[in-house]
Amino acid sequence: MKKILIMIMALTAAAVMLVAGCGGEKKEAAEKILRVGTEPTFAPFEFQKEGSKEYDGFDMDLIRAVGKQMGYKVEIQNMGFDALIPALNAGNIDVVAAGMSITDERKQAVTFSEPYYTSGLIIMVNKDNNTIKSLKDLEGKRIACQIGTTGEGKARSVAGAKVTAFNTNTEAAMELTNNGVDAVINDSPVVGYYLAQGGNKTAKTVGEVMEAEQYGLAVKKGNDKLAADINKALAELKKNGEYDKIYKTWFGEVKK
Ligand code: ARG
Repeated sequence: MKKILIMIMALTAAAVMLVAGCGGEKKEAAEKILRVGTEPTFAPFEFQKEGSKEYDGFDMDLIRAVGKQMGYKVEIQNMGFDALIPALNAGNIDVVAAGMSITDERKQAVTFSEPYYTSGLIIMVNKDNNTIKSLKDLEGKRIACQIGTTGEGKARSVAGAKVTAFNTNTEAAMELTNNGVDAVINDSPVVGYYLAQGGNKTAKTVGEVMEAEQYGLAVKKGNDKLAADINKALAELKKNGEYDKIYKTWFGEVKK
């Protein structure tokens, strides 16, 4: 009789421990945090809402959906575009979601997810400028761009150009309005959105969109597990219609 009692007590204790253990694990899972770095002067991909300063845009919706799919709470941090890769490598953030183009040079420093958006650079000038129509016409001219971007790389490839790299796209665009530069080089969907939103009534784009660039989410080089998890989540969001839903929110019709 005594033996049975001891056995029951032991079993009860084990059961209690099991339940407590499960509870503990669940709590931990709910607190997994994905630290995301962005530079939010890049609407419609990332920007801060007026007033609340809340992060909004295609990339922000996408990374929140990816995080949710992976069971993470997403926390977004604001930093200079040129600080994003150093922050990844220093371990201060886990992912970059910043309309970052996948380039061979960056691939040396970070690991990219599968591409999630196709973009390309374009030139913006003031409407009264009728001499600049292509990259060639920018030779010897003053060009503004955002620091550390592919736009900066393109600007610096123009012979004799005087390039000013700004911390934000807002400043680069303002410099054009103030006639401090002759042109801005930036991503076409961002320039298009800026002009369509009436952000600037005195500017226009010229020439064609330059070669295609693919945006990818970036993780610390060698963090293949996280990259694989992100790719899995992206694939799932494409399959279940969530990606298309987010795409439609920001770009209207879904590009097939
Ligand atoms: N796609 C360009 C690049 O990768 C510009 C990205 C700028 N992004 C931003 N959030 N400001 O260099």
